[in-house]
Amino acid sequence: MNPRLGVNIDHVATLRQARGEEYPSIARAAETVLKAGADQITIHLREDRRHIQDTDVEVVQLMTKQFGKPLNLEMGCAPDIVDLCITVKPDWVCLVPEKREEKTTEGGLDLLDSKNFERVKTTCEKIKKGSPESKISLFLEANISTLEKASELSIDAVEIHTGDYARKYLEDDDVSSDLTQFKKAYELLTEKNIAVHAGHGLTIESVLPLLKTKLFAEYNIGHWIICESVFKGLSNVILDFKALFAKEEYQV
Ligand code: PXP
Repeated sequence: MNPRLGVNIDHVATLRQARGEEYPSIARAAETVLKAGADQITIHLREDRRHIQDTDVEVVQLMTKQFGKPLNLEMGCAPDIVDLCITVKPDWVCLVPEKREEKTTEGGLDLLDSKNFERVKTTCEKIKKGSPESKISLFLEANISTLEKASELSIDAVEIHTGDYARKYLEDDDVSSDLTQFKKAYELLTEKNIAVHAGHGLTIESVLPLLKTKLFAEYNIGHWIICESVFKGLSNVILDFKALFAKEEYQV
């Protein structure tokens, strides 16, 4: 079985929000990604709405439904977002920690903090009650005590935070201890019947050693895909402009 590729399209919305325009269209992004064979669309509705907006969630969901693919909604535990999630009823909800000042999600949920644990537990219960069909994953570090704590909750998957691993890989540092940790996480979660996903900071190169481990059933990748697509698409757009400018009627 192929591992699944969830594509996070937040940064298409980042570009749109930077200019306050209607483009680039999030619906078109979702459609393009799904047409190309992505297994899932991931979006993160942040408390400050810096990229994905509330209305985007339904627009993207419409597209995922059209393609018969899951929508994975990443979110913190803020009550208004939990309410929206219950209204939308995404296929998957991935609970993440959220600090307003962070550039991106900087690590997994701290379930060893009892207050945090209770907050996540209450949120899981609320989602399971309000949207019983939605599956829940928690974004966590590959830390055994944290994963043990997670297994006390009614969850379907854990998405292992690969951000630190990916940074080390990028900087040519030794990643063997990360890979060992991922394997231990996999063993624990599999024994508890919890699916193992991975995400954050991955590139087409740093994902390779992870694919070789065969530990992860799903990868959620966003920033690098959107960045790389600039270079995979830029020349085509220039060709379109040059073809237009070359038309007889527009000669100056
Ligand atoms: N998974 C989770 C839980 C995330 O918070 C993010 C970033 O929104 C991603 C995956 C995708 O990370 P990246 O954009 O770095 O590929």
